[in-house]
Amino acid sequence: MVDQYILLEEEGGKMYFVPLVDESMKIKGLGVVNPMNDFGHVNIGQMIDVCGKPLRRIPPRLPTLIRSMKRRAQTISDKDAGVLIAKLGIGDGDTVIEAGLGSGGLSMHLARVLGRHGTLVTVEAREEHALVGLENLERAKQTWDGFPNHIHHNGKIESVAPLLLHEGLLVDAIILDLPDHVPAIDATAELLQVGGRMACYCPVSNQLEQAWLSCEKNGLSFEWAGEIIERQWGRASKGGMRPVNGPFGHTAFLIVAVRH
Ligand SMILES: C[S@@+](CC[C@H](N)C(=O)[O-])C[C@H]1O[C@@H](n2cnc3c(N)ncnc32)[C@H](O)[C@@H]1O
Repeated sequence: MVDQYILLEEEGGKMYFVPLVDESMKIKGLGVVNPMNDFGHVNIGQMIDVCGKPLRRIPPRLPTLIRSMKRRAQTISDKDAGVLIAKLGIGDGDTVIEAGLGSGGLSMHLARVLGRHGTLVTVEAREEHALVGLENLERAKQTWDGFPNHIHHNGKIESVAPLLLHEGLLVDAIILDLPDHVPAIDATAELLQVGGRMACYCPVSNQLEQAWLSCEKNGLSFEWAGEIIERQWGRASKGGMRPVNGPFGHTAFLIVAVRH
């Protein structure tokens, strides 16, 4: 296992996440390096030249870890992750269930706010997705001070939830980002303690309606549904600021329900 990683950034934003080990390895874009010998002495903020390429060692904060993360399944981005965390009231010391883990994009946001006293339970049906998500979480664990207790289950949430219920687990929040939310809501709603909230991330609107009906059927009260629209601004070439040109994209509809 790697004890520490360092993050190097090239001009233009390309990043290299390097395990700080004392052995030669090939890193795409940097060639063959011995990370400990070549980078072990480089302080955060300091520049280093690797084969004529100037790189800066940068601190591994959440935005940089997200930018440099491995990707497989589509991730939940910061615009939706931030709102989910706020609307579910997730904070230090809470216990949260998240399914599916996917690439771990949302999990990294959750881990950051749960802190060392929190517990994150992740569930993922596809092992090849879990490998990527777990690697991203491991990087975060090795680079942040204060990582939650993390428990991962491979399998479908519908099969894992009864085991969690059997263990007597009660949680503060559940976030579902799945193709079919209904069986997952049926399986997990009982795990939510009073005042706890469930959210579903629904790329299409029929998922939203089905999730709403399913939350109510399982005794949860609807609290909020909607879409978060982000409009980025930039500096205009002739001065002033304006919304940037580009696609005005859709990610998903979100729904939040609460256990009273
Ligand atoms: C869109 S991805 C999740 C991405 C994740 N939220 C992120 O931010 O990186 C959806 C994941 O759910 C997994 N999945 C699908 N059905 C599932 C189920 N019933 N139980 C657990 N995971 C499931 C898929 O394999 C996939 O990896």
